Amino acid sequence: MQLPRLAAALALAVTTGAAAGALDAPEALPEGEGREETFYACTACHGFGLVAQQGMTRALWDETLTLMVERNNMQPLEEKERVLVLDYLTQAFPPRRRGRPSPFLK
Ligand code: HEC
Repeated sequence: MQLPRLAAALALAVTTGAAAGALDAPEALPEGEGREETFYACTACHGFGLVAQQGMTRALWDETLTLMVERNNMQPLEEKERVLVLDYLTQAFPPRRRGRPSPFLK
């Protein structure tokens, strides 16, 4: 009996683009230094689910930040903040095995 409800919830999550969960506040992200800064830097334009569904090496996160600036008109972060955000992304969303783990895993 739980299945239809789960399916409906999933369908809703997908259609709203929130497949990675309702990451609508910094507290919904894995803990770590730079969490708030990262959340607000990235959600200026899109939901954090877009970010959290990725798992990348530091080098690829670095490239992603550069792409956001060069292609998507992101305001470049100050060097200190950029390092903070990069450190946070690297430890909170590292490369991982296939499959989409819960964004609430620490
Ligand atoms: C100035 C706007 C802007 C900001 C700020 C921004 N992005 Fe993006 N980002 C975009 C746009 C536009 C897209 C592509 C369109 C979409 O899917 O919404 C995108 C897509 C992405 C994607 C998906 C790429 C893919 O191949 O699917 C990732 C990952 C991403 N952004 C990471 C980040 C991170 C991390 C930050 C914060 C450090 C960030 N973005 C901040 C505009 C922005």
